[in-house]
Amino acid sequence: MAVSAIIPAAGSGRRMGGGTAKQFLPLRGEPVLVRTVRLFSECPLVDEIVVVAGDVESTAELIGHFPKVAYVIQGGKERQDSVWAGLQKVHSRPRIICVHDAVRPLLTMEMLEGVLHAAAEHQAQVLAVPVKDTIKMAKPDGIVTQTPDRSTVFAVQTPQVFWVEPMAQAFRQAIADGVVGTDCASLLERMGVPVHIYPGSNENIKLTTPEDFLVAEAILERRERG
Ligand code: C5P
Repeated sequence: MAVSAIIPAAGSGRRMGGGTAKQFLPLRGEPVLVRTVRLFSECPLVDEIVVVAGDVESTAELIGHFPKVAYVIQGGKERQDSVWAGLQKVHSRPRIICVHDAVRPLLTMEMLEGVLHAAAEHQAQVLAVPVKDTIKMAKPDGIVTQTPDRSTVFAVQTPQVFWVEPMAQAFRQAIADGVVGTDCASLLERMGVPVHIYPGSNENIKLTTPEDFLVAEAILERRERG
């Protein structure tokens, strides 16, 4: 089945500090977004890429030359709005949608191809890793309410891969219900669609704070040394 990748890149990156959104910052000399888009462009299983941007013009300048980039479009207020905007651009014939954060440039081809192959079987899949820390749930006053069994808790990453119909239906319903999910999969979960976990990697980090860039540079340096 045809695969469309949606890459949300419309965040302002407030947690990073500074004026430039993190997807445009250099990582070992190359903007984060370029690294992310290149991986998808080079993946033989991906047919087209929709990049959702805050500033369409400068984003198109940066990554518009990659052959599989079909659209660079304007994002929305929340990440969910940006992904929904991307989904509007995807052709309506049966296909698989692969959503991947622009700010996770350390995804490997092996993982991307693996999760896309697995999508032949499952309607909804997310990359995830077991959490290393014990997780506590707490009230706004800081009092702990619960400690979930660690073996049942995962840190979720992207890609998140869906069949187009259940995904579009879940997004339409979330919009109708005024629900904003922190990831795409949660919208399908509330519709009762089984979401499968595909093994992610501790290296597939989301660049959020300046420390994440230090870690990412170190990982890339090691990879480049082979
Ligand atoms: O803010 P967060 O780190 O969760 O963002 C994850 C990804 O979603 C980033 O690549 C960011 O650019 C994108 N995003 C977006 N539209 C928004 C907010 C975030 O495309 N309104």
